[in-house]
This record gives sequence, C-alpha cells and structure tokens, in this order.
Amino acid sequence: MLDLLIHNATLPDGRTNMSVAVQAGRIAEVTEGLSPAAAPAKETVDAGGLLLSTPFVDAHFHMDATLSLGLPRLNASGTLLEGIALWGELKPHLTFDALVQRALAYCDWAVANGLLAIRSHVDTSDASMLAVEALLAVKKKVAPYIDLQLVAFPQDGVLRSKGGVENLKKALSLGVDVVGGIPHFERTMADGADSVKLLCELAAEQGKLVDMHCDESDDPLSRHIETLAFEANRLGLHGRVTGSHLTSMHSMDNYYVSKLLPLMAEAQISVVSNPLINITLQGRHDTYPKRRGMTRVPEIMAAGMTVAFGQDCCMDPWYSMGSGDMLEVASMGLHVAQMTSQAAMAQCFDAVTKNPARILHLEGYGLEAGCNADFVLLQAQNPVEALRLKATRLKVWRRGTLVAQTPARTAALSLPGRPAHTSFLHTK
Ligand code: FE2
Repeated sequence: MLDLLIHNATLPDGRTNMSVAVQAGRIAEVTEGLSPAAAPAKETVDAGGLLLSTPFVDAHFHMDATLSLGLPRLNASGTLLEGIALWGELKPHLTFDALVQRALAYCDWAVANGLLAIRSHVDTSDASMLAVEALLAVKKKVAPYIDLQLVAFPQDGVLRSKGGVENLKKALSLGVDVVGGIPHFERTMADGADSVKLLCELAAEQGKLVDMHCDESDDPLSRHIETLAFEANRLGLHGRVTGSHLTSMHSMDNYYVSKLLPLMAEAQISVVSNPLINITLQGRHDTYPKRRGMTRVPEIMAAGMTVAFGQDCCMDPWYSMGSGDMLEVASMGLHVAQMTSQAAMAQCFDAVTKNPARILHLEGYGLEAGCNADFVLLQAQNPVEALRLKATRLKVWRRGTLVAQTPARTAALSLPGRPAHTSFLHTK
C-alpha cells in the first residue's frame, strides 16, 4: 500500500489528470489517471484539477537580518548604503537567541508559503561568528522541513574589513556551505577584482560553490561579473558560480553586454536577481527617468544561463516589506522585466522553483519517480494563474508528510443572479 496518492492534479508543465504516488518519502510514480481504486494508499488527496508543483526555492536571502525591522532604527534614505550602515549599528546588539528566534519565525512563514529550500547569506565580518553559529543551529533545527544552505558573506568587504579573509575561512571551517563576496563594496575596483580572484581560488581549493553579491550598483562601470566569469572559467568552476544582483548590467553599455554575456555563458554562471529589492534600492540617485536597476533577466536566460528570482530581504535594514512569498517575488520580476508572454511568465514560475533548485545543487528535487515527495498544491490551474493570484498554498508536503495547509480563498457574495460563493480561479 502507498503512503500517499495525490490524483487529478495539473503539473507545471501543463499535463492534467496526473497522479503522484508516494512511498517512504519519495515519489514512486507519476502517471496519468491513476485512480485511488487502482492504487490504494493510506492517504488519498483529490487535487481537484489544481496545480501541484515542486516547492518554492529561494536562492538568495539574509536570514541573520530578517525580522529585525526598526532595530535600532529605520532606514531613512531607503538606500543600500544606509542599510549596510544600519546593519553595522545593529550588529553589536545581536544575541544568539534573538537571531535564532527571528530566523525560526521566518522559516515558519516559509513553510506556510510552500518555500522549502533557502540559500541564505550569513555575515562573516564579525570574528565572534555569532550570526554564523546561530544560523548553523537554525539549519540543523529546520532540516526536517527546510533545506537551508548558508553562504559565507563578508558584508563589510573581505579585503576592506580587518580579518575579513580569516573570518570567512573560519565560517567555512564551521560548516558554512558556499563562498560569498561583495567586490563592489571593496575600496577600489582593483581590490574588488582581487577579492573575486581570492574567493574563487578558495572555493576551488575547498570544493565549494560560489555565490557573490556582485555589482549591486547603478554604476555601469562596475564590472566585477567579468572577473567572476573569467575566474570561474580559469579555475574550472563551471556551473558552480552564481552572480547575485548584477544590477549594474541594467545600466551597462549594450555593446559591452554583447561581449560579456558569452563570457558568462561559457563559464556557466548562474544568476540570481532580486526584483523586490533591486526595484526599491536601485535608481536612488536618479531624478527622472528613474532606472529600474534590475539585471537583464530575459537576455541572460536567452543566452542559456540559469536565472532565479530571490527574496533577498524581509523586514530588515534594507526592506520593510516581504513575507517569504516567492510568487510575489516572481510577479515583481515578471513586471519589471516585462516578461509578459505566456512562455516568459512560465519562465518566471521556473525562476522560483526549478531554476533556484539547480543553482543550490539540491538533490532529489523534481516531479518524477525517485525524487523527494515535496510538493505544494496551489489554488490555481496553472503557473500563470498562480502568479496572477499569488495563489493560496492549499497543502504543503515534505517527504510525503503534510506540513502546512491554508483554506481556499473564496468570497461570500450577495449579488442578485450570482453564485453565493465565488473563488478567484478563472474557470472556462
Ligand atoms: Fe543580498
């Protein structure tokens, strides 16, 4: 007997009337029209024709800063640099317990939203390793329900801050998974390039993935992505290096970008764009027209690279909004990048599901036999409708076990000649 059978589901690739059979936490079979009579299971769920997806994945977050909004004060200018300064003011007041409690609260929101894998940067600038130790504890605690991958992130600049390299190495030795960086925050372009070289060499030596905050600026001459791609090529780190933000690409000269994209593609660089944050933090020095400041998502996708949309911030020194809703993130990306064709909207859904899963090198992610039985049942009929409605996560499963559920959205109307209840679905 199966542990779980979900039948009458629509899958993100458009297949309908699909059944997913689960045994021992893994997918046993994905097939069309398998009925509960033909496949008895301890638990059977009729998806009612709605969308059953793999879980959402966030490839870029800061869990050490989340839910700290207003501590010790609010960001008055709304700029990236004031956010960094504010985080510096908060750091001396951080405690292990408060860091853990805030992170766990966010993880609860994440699970409710069907977000079951997160790559979080953790600030390694502080020699005490307080935030690193706290997030390593959180990683262990949430492991049954969230894959939390940590990036050693030298927020104050690995070369710019005293002991930056040693602290980052210490974080890696404690168990942090990925090498981070912030070349545009080093004191000079040359230091930025040196930091990229040094950090990529460190990752190659230790067999780690790389994910750098790179060129988070409106300066078209911020070109550290070029060095990152060059180093990835030189060191054989193909498919293992991610450039996060890349907002300067928005403002770069088109001819230069036509030369840059093939270099990035050759190195198989992955890209994480953070639309909610980029649209609010970038362009702050502009009058009108104001730049959007988001990287060239459709063009990077068209060049064959993997692109994800990340949440980045939630109620922290940089951003007072956010809720761990990756459909909100993807919807903003869709609008800012004008990805409005049916195919492009489907790509936006992929950018918060399978693309970030590939970037994190997640094992067992997918909707086929042998993959982990991790799913989200959405109150939507397809990915485009899920984006339009920021669809309710009716049920969330992790390894075949139900971990969250939310009632369907309906409105009780009292209109003459109209049904008493209406859902928000567009039914044919
Ligand atoms: Fe970030």
